[in-house]
Amino acid sequence: MDTDDGWPDSASAWIADQGEAGDFSRRHVLDAPMLARVARSGARTALDVGCGEGRFCRMLAAAGIAATGIDPTEALLEAARARHPGGDYRRGQAEALDLADGGYDLVVSYLTLLDIADIGRAIPEMARVLRPGGRLLIANMNSFFTAGPPEGWTTGADGTRRFCLDHYLEARADWVAWRGIRIRNWHRPMETYMALLLGQGLLLRHYAEPAPVGGDPAMAARYRRVPYFHIMEWQKPAAK
Ligand SMILES: C[S@@+](CC[C@H](N)C(=O)[O-])C[C@H]1O[C@@H](n2cnc3c(N)ncnc32)[C@H](O)[C@@H]1O
Repeated sequence: MDTDDGWPDSASAWIADQGEAGDFSRRHVLDAPMLARVARSGARTALDVGCGEGRFCRMLAAAGIAATGIDPTEALLEAARARHPGGDYRRGQAEALDLADGGYDLVVSYLTLLDIADIGRAIPEMARVLRPGGRLLIANMNSFFTAGPPEGWTTGADGTRRFCLDHYLEARADWVAWRGIRIRNWHRPMETYMALLLGQGLLLRHYAEPAPVGGDPAMAARYRRVPYFHIMEWQKPAAK
C-alpha cells in the first residue's frame, strides 16, 4: 500500500523530527486548540485518519478516548505501535476506510488533507464512519499557504523575506523538503474542501486560524506573518 508520495522514505526523519512533543506547528500552534475541541466534543471513540507515528492518538487516549489510528505508511505505524502497545493502529487509506458506517463519535484529520491524493473519495469516507451527531475535526494548512510552493518564502535582493503564492486556483501536488523529510503535498483551493464537506451535509460548527503560543520568538513571528493553518469542526446532522 506504500505510495510514491515520499512518506515511506521520509518516515524515520519524520519520527525523529516529531519527537514526543511534536514539531513547532503542533506544540505551539495546533495541539492546544485541537485538544480543546476534543474536550468539548464529549467523544468516547475517535478515528485519527493519517495518524502517522500516533502522537495525537496517544493524546486522545490520555483524554480517556478509545482511539483508532489509520495510516498507509507501515514504518510510521510500527513506531505508533511501539510507543503505544495498547493502541489500535491499522494500515489503511482515507479513500477507502475498512470500517463500518457510523462507528465513531469523532473523526480527526490532523494535517492530513494536504497529504491525501484523492480527497474526493476521502472526505465522504470520513463522513460515512461518523455517527449521526458526531464531529469531524480538521487541522489543515491553509490553501493560501499551500499555493506557495515551489516559490513560497523568498529572500529579495535587499535581504527582505517575503512569502509568494501563485496559481491559487490550480490544484497540484508539489514536493516539499525539510530536515531529511521529502514528501508530496497537495495544494487545492479552499473551495475544493468546502464543497466536499458541504456536499456531505456536514454543518460547520467551529473555524479558527490559531496563532502561535510560546516557543522560539523568531519562529513565532514567522508563523504570524502568513496564513499557515486553520482548524474546522464539522458536525454530521443527528438522525431524524
Ligand atoms: C503530515 S503527516 C501527519 C501525521 C499525524 N496526523 C500528525 O499530525 O503527526 C501526514 C500523514 O498522512 C498519511 N497519509 C498519506 N496519504 C494518506 C492517505 N491517502 N490516507 C490516509 N493517510 C495518508 C501519511 O502517511 C502521514 O502519516
